[in-house]
Amino acid sequence: MGALNSAVRIRHDLHYRLTEARKRTDDLFKIVREEAMYDRPIAERHRIIFYVGHVESFDWNLLAQRAFGLQSFNESFDKLFAFGIDPVGGGLPIDQPSDWPKREEIDAYNARLRDELDQAVARTLANPSEGHPLLLSMIEVAIEHRLMHAETLAYMLHQLPAGRKVRAPKEPVWKTARAKSHLVDIPAGTATLGLKHGDNAEFGWDNEFEGAEAFVPGFAIDTYNVMNRDFLQFMQAGGYQNRGLWSDEAWKWKNEDGISHPTFWRREGNLWMYRTMFGDIQLPLDWPVYVSHAEATAYAKWLGRKLPSEEQFHRAAYGTSEDGVERDYPWGNEAPNEKYGNFDFQHWDPSPVGAYPRGASAFGVHDIVGNGWEWTRTVFEPFPGFEPMSFYPGYSANFFDGKHYVMKGGSPRTAACMLRRSFRNWFQPHYPYVYATFRCVED
Ligand SMILES: [Fe+2]
Repeated sequence: MGALNSAVRIRHDLHYRLTEARKRTDDLFKIVREEAMYDRPIAERHRIIFYVGHVESFDWNLLAQRAFGLQSFNESFDKLFAFGIDPVGGGLPIDQPSDWPKREEIDAYNARLRDELDQAVARTLANPSEGHPLLLSMIEVAIEHRLMHAETLAYMLHQLPAGRKVRAPKEPVWKTARAKSHLVDIPAGTATLGLKHGDNAEFGWDNEFEGAEAFVPGFAIDTYNVMNRDFLQFMQAGGYQNRGLWSDEAWKWKNEDGISHPTFWRREGNLWMYRTMFGDIQLPLDWPVYVSHAEATAYAKWLGRKLPSEEQFHRAAYGTSEDGVERDYPWGNEAPNEKYGNFDFQHWDPSPVGAYPRGASAFGVHDIVGNGWEWTRTVFEPFPGFEPMSFYPGYSANFFDGKHYVMKGGSPRTAACMLRRSFRNWFQPHYPYVYATFRCVED
């Protein structure tokens, strides 16, 4: 009976988490002024209104028929809101605001959809012997898919002019001592990547399996992220004009798109300004620099260094001086909370590097989870033993094209559940809007 009760409780928690995740996306859309709902802040992406329908229709398309046998009540909306855009080399979308349904129609679709799903979820979760064998994983997928959009939508809304947004409460004034970064030695040792099937009931996306140990030779890594201050020096030294620092593809992209500074920066007279979520401020020199993979790679090369590999990231973040002993999180095994880093929607923007000393890893590497995803030099590929999820086969497999790089860690807008050690994020190297920073290694 005890086991049955706890199974029901876990299932009930899942429904609660789905409801909480919905609040995240609801809150996010509330920062968009009504007149800006049909804007397209990033040329390569859909208009904002698409995502209002998408985060709901995704759940419906995933669960309704497959898990609960529910019939569609609006097939055209199910299709219209089904897919986002991954802008690799394609043309720009040309749809007009008038091509999209009215907000009221979408709100009505969303409300009915949530209501029908909630009833089915509650009914099915109350009885552990009922439902699709993969039901729990499917609901986890719905939750994390939505939370990922809560983050990537923040990147998109970041590019929406401040006047088109409802300003959030004031951001904190940080009183962080100026950090001095240096290289710290990480001794050779093993790192556990990914999750293993069968060990426990932990949820992971398909690309997190099959987990395995990797031996990582010794190397040295920056104790702090590269800051805006550091990146300014790279720019002043002519980094963007130095052909030798860029791959052929990156050089072409940089020139064609006229890239000469990080996307979050803007020149105003003699000053560099920084675009925060709700307005421009003078460039905060001690914030981690947010740049594309191509820019991060050029900077590392300028110093004769590299970006870390995915395995090196794991060693620096989770390894300890006792080989074979790894932590769940850089700071230890305690679940993520506000003592340990800038993540889980606490802030809209970065904090100064080193603002969370208690979150440092066993080797004294700061902010390695939180305050910005960290670029690695590892191309996103499947782990040996990878199998796509039957109910979402393209989630990872569509991106194993050699054109995406692994990011690890997490940003201010990454949900706590996705700060797990095995979670892998990925982006293409020239997409400049991501909350991604980096640090360098010598190996
Ligand atoms: Fe999506």
